[in-house]
Amino acid sequence: MRDTADWYRGFAEVDARHRSAIYEAWAFGIADDPAMVALIDELPETRRQPSLVFAVSRLLGAEPVGFDAFRSWLVENWSRVRPGVEARLNQTNEPGRSAAILPAIAQLPGPLALLEVGASAGLCLYPDRYSYRYTGGDGVATVDPSDGESAVLLECAITGPVPVPGRLPDVVWRGGIDLAPLDVAKPEDREWLETLAWPEEDARRDRIRSAIGIARNDPPLLVAGDATDALLELAGTAPSDATLVLITSGVLVYLPYLERLRFIDLARRLDARWVSLEGVAVIPSVQQRVQARLHPTSGGFVLALDEHPLSFGGPHGQSLDWFEPAAD
Ligand SMILES: C[S@@+](CC[C@H](N)C(=O)[O-])C[C@H]1O[C@@H](n2cnc3c(N)ncnc32)[C@H](O)[C@@H]1O
Repeated sequence: MRDTADWYRGFAEVDARHRSAIYEAWAFGIADDPAMVALIDELPETRRQPSLVFAVSRLLGAEPVGFDAFRSWLVENWSRVRPGVEARLNQTNEPGRSAAILPAIAQLPGPLALLEVGASAGLCLYPDRYSYRYTGGDGVATVDPSDGESAVLLECAITGPVPVPGRLPDVVWRGGIDLAPLDVAKPEDREWLETLAWPEEDARRDRIRSAIGIARNDPPLLVAGDATDALLELAGTAPSDATLVLITSGVLVYLPYLERLRFIDLARRLDARWVSLEGVAVIPSVQQRVQARLHPTSGGFVLALDEHPLSFGGPHGQSLDWFEPAAD
């Protein structure tokens, strides 16, 4: 079992340090406070993630202030926080990942039918509705939807031969599977999506809000279910005259290892292309292939097409370090 104090300290030092002074202080505060660790340990282990506990606390009214005030608030409100955390999953939906996924899906023959597993609210199912700005050594390349600039502009810093497309793909179908899909038509789900952005991440929150606006105008088909169990049935409803593209981004890490292998096996047998944006160690075949590549600015995630690594990428799609073609 994971030691909670170590978990929160590691989160403060690694995840929060350059992203959120508030979460950093809260996580250090809990790690150094045995009474608070004991409180967190009342939660099932899978629900002790600092970002989940903090997001639920904020949703229930915790102000983004220093640790002492947060501690008092948490003790006072634990009877509400505990069931709130138990009822929720970490469902951060990051439309920015579309900037990393776009160069992979734009290579595929259109029109495209997109099927995302672990879709949350489906905000990564609109790569054709966002605007993009790729900035690298060769300058800036922008791509907009055919009807003009989008309310959502995704910025991506690039190195290497990123195949930035000249135009956005033609997406004719969007479907998603999630254990608990979030519905952009429901105010409480919209509030949760926004709260999942960390306290100081105002620009990210704005981006999520704008992407929600796009999804509300043309909601995706989202089904509740497990990644593997629900895949074949939903894939069977995609139009047969479009290229089916299976997308997984920031999700397979949540599948226990054997479940993940079962999913990978099914993905291989599906009549679809598979674009993944996952942590380096999440898909064993991708990890094995990527080990041959050492890159100076690895962003932590790997973009792969059919398990063949294309690029390192920032976890929110904020960067791409595209691989040079293999020498062999
Ligand atoms: C961190 S979010 C990522 C959402 C989205 N893919 C993105 O990149 O913005 C992970 C999502 O996967 C879902 N999830 C976790 N395990 C799952 C499973 N076994 N089957 C289906 N969905 C799952 C969660 O509910 C959550 O919405």
